[in-house]
Amino acid sequence: MLHSENASPAGDEEFLHGPTWTLTRLAGAEELAAVNDLHSRCSQGSLYKRYLGTRTGLAPDEWQHMTNGGTALTWVTYSPESPERLIAVLQLVGSAGGDSADLGLLIEDPWQNRKLGTALVRHARTQGHRMGATAITGTVDRRNPAMLRILKDLGASLSFGGGSVIDAVLALPTIDDRPAPAQSGRHPGSVGMASAGCVPRC
Ligand SMILES: CC(C)(COP(=O)(O)OP(=O)(O)OC[C@H]1O[C@@H](n2cnc3c(N)ncnc32)[C@H](O)[C@@H]1OP(=O)(O)O)[C@@H](O)C(=O)NCCC(=O)NCCS
Repeated sequence: MLHSENASPAGDEEFLHGPTWTLTRLAGAEELAAVNDLHSRCSQGSLYKRYLGTRTGLAPDEWQHMTNGGTALTWVTYSPESPERLIAVLQLVGSAGGDSADLGLLIEDPWQNRKLGTALVRHARTQGHRMGATAITGTVDRRNPAMLRILKDLGASLSFGGGSVIDAVLALPTIDDRPAPAQSGRHPGSVGMASAGCVPRC
C-alpha cells in the first residue's frame, strides 16, 4: 500500500512524499553500494552535518547493523524515475537500554530544502515504537538550522551538548496519539506499484 506523507504506514510499505514525488521504503541489506553512491554525491558540508566528522560512507558491518530490522531501522528514498539512485537515507538506531533511538538522516544536496527532511523525521517519529523506543534522540551541529528547525517544530527538547552540538530529545507519540491512516495516494509514475549510533550520529 502506498501512503501519503501524513499517513501512519506499516514499516514494510512505501511512503510517498508529495512535494518531491519521492518514495521511501525500508532499506535492504544488499543496498550498501547504492547508499554509499549517495554518500559520494553529497557535499562535504552535508556529510559533516550528518556525521559530525569526516566520513564518506558506511562500512559493511555498520550497514548490516542498520538494516537488521530489530535494534535498528533504515529507510531509503528514491525518485520513481531512477529507483536505483537513492537520494536519502534515514536511520533509527536503538540505544543499549532500548528505550530511545538515535536518528540519522542524509539527503542529497539538490533534494534538500524541499520539505523532505521534515517528512522523513515525521515518518521516523511514527516508526520508532517498532523498536520499543519511547523517544528519538539526535546530536545536531548548532550550525544546522534546518535540522534544528524540524526537531523544534515537532516539539523536541533541545539542550546544549557541549562543543558545537545541540542534543535533541523527541518524545514519540503513544499508540493513542498516532494519526489515523490517511487516504492512499498514487504516484503518477508508479502504476502497478504497491500503493507506497553505532558510529553514525545525527
Ligand atoms: C538537515 C536536513 C535533513 C533537512 O532536510 P531538508 O529537506 O533539507 O529540510 P526541509 O526542507 O524539510 O526544511 C526544514 C525547515 O528548516 C528551515 N530551514 C532550512 N534552511 C534553513 C536555514 N538556513 N535557516 C533557517 N531555517 C532553515 C526550512 O525553512 C524548514 O522550516 P519550515 O518548514 O518552517 O519552513 C537535510 O538538509 C540534510 O540531509 N542535510 C545534510 C545532513 C544533515 O544535516 N543531517 C541532519 C543531522 S542527522
